Amino acid sequence: MSFAVTRDNEDFLYQQVIALIRQMRDDQTISPGEKLPSLRGLASKLQVSVPTVKQGYEELERLGEIEARPKSGYYLIHDNEQRATPRRIRTAKKPVTVRKQSLIEQVYQAIHEPGVLPLGVANPVAAYPSDKMLARTMRRVMSKGGPKTIGYGPMDGYPQLKRQLAFRYLDFGLKVDPDDLLITNGAQEALAIALQTVAKAGDIVAVESPVYFGIVELIESLGMMAYELPLGADEGILLDDLTQAINQQPIKACIVSTSISNPMGSFMSDDNRKALVKLLEANNIPLIEDDVYSDLYFTEKRGIPAQGYSSKGLVITCASFSKTAAPGYRIGWMITPKFIEQAKRIKRALSCGSSTINQWTMSEFVASGDYDRNMHHLRRILLQNRDRMVAAVKKYFSADVRVSNPKGGGVLWVELKPGTDTTVLFHKALEHNISIAPGTIFSPSNRYKHCFRISYGLEWTEAIERAVETLAQLYSKL
Ligand SMILES: Cc1ncc(COP(=O)(O)O)c(C=O)c1O
Repeated sequence: MSFAVTRDNEDFLYQQVIALIRQMRDDQTISPGEKLPSLRGLASKLQVSVPTVKQGYEELERLGEIEARPKSGYYLIHDNEQRATPRRIRTAKKPVTVRKQSLIEQVYQAIHEPGVLPLGVANPVAAYPSDKMLARTMRRVMSKGGPKTIGYGPMDGYPQLKRQLAFRYLDFGLKVDPDDLLITNGAQEALAIALQTVAKAGDIVAVESPVYFGIVELIESLGMMAYELPLGADEGILLDDLTQAINQQPIKACIVSTSISNPMGSFMSDDNRKALVKLLEANNIPLIEDDVYSDLYFTEKRGIPAQGYSSKGLVITCASFSKTAAPGYRIGWMITPKFIEQAKRIKRALSCGSSTINQWTMSEFVASGDYDRNMHHLRRILLQNRDRMVAAVKKYFSADVRVSNPKGGGVLWVELKPGTDTTVLFHKALEHNISIAPGTIFSPSNRYKHCFRISYGLEWTEAIERAVETLAQLYSKL
């Protein structure tokens, strides 16, 4: 038998109290409607302070899992409010030409309006910012590196950073050659280069649906066509859908969030990832894997990049530090043993390289261990925020509203009743200084008009809870 709550555990004591109550609920030591142990009684049994137990109970109360009854104590509530997750769409009949830029531009603008609560942006780092640590690191780098830190660096990236990144892939058993790795300006540039490497204007690119709107915009600006593969709330795309698409359309490339998707938050299992690579490579179709969220997993372990399953070299991995450390540094990378020379040529033509000082700083940040420590805390806080956001949506929105159950990342996907127009909700919410991301920007073919994405990647405050309440009120009046 182990201690239920222990100081050796890396979770806070109050979080262990929460875990203990949930475990007691799950193994039916206490049943819905029953009274929980008193604050004092449990504190004495666990040998922790009364405020620690109270903090745990209050958090559970906020999450809607227990309730406080005046002069009586805390009770486990009946969970008759289990929400359904958003539905998978029907498979697409044909590829579409994309026209989305104006609404996407409005969403970007809204995020930066002064005084607006930016629930429309996927910026998980804001939940646990690393700015102070990075500032210290950058000062150190500048005094050590002098003028070199402000000079042009090698076009394909700061060599030390490339070696570190390659080394980190060894954790998944992947032997990456630093020469096959190109540093880019964020994952967005990596995706842009990858797409231009393997496809041209007029080609059909298969994408998951709903899909991150940056990819929608990229396909539009490159004049390509998009073919949508329906995404479920738990797993990624279905391989049957992809097989059907390949049989019916001349698919030139496929872009998939091989780990955690945005906006759905679904998680593709290692087995499915392996099968996906096998299917695409058997048909000589390159896979562009968007791996930006894979380190922010809530699952037992991180997914192995699809790159690890490639036998023909047709997988191009795109990732960045934007979701785990510093989106403003704009440091991403791509790995492609097969297409590296074309990719370098495009990178050279586009931007000649990425910021020297930012790469150098990030390299020191990783080498010091601060990056991993920070990310560990970030993941924990995001998980807590996810539960809070799900609870807030359940509390304020009517029971027919569906919510995703993200397996990682920092956003929630909400499905309202069919017929609702979340572009109207987006504009009305802005009048209340709240930004959200309306559903249609996540589909090349204007689906998801009745859905929206909301971020929990922020420092949690009462204002967020109030914003969800306001959104629910606006929705009820639409
Ligand atoms: C799924 C996905 N891919 C790529 C990107 C682009 O990342 P970066 O900021 O590193 O360019 C984002 C950013 O929101 C994203 O959510």
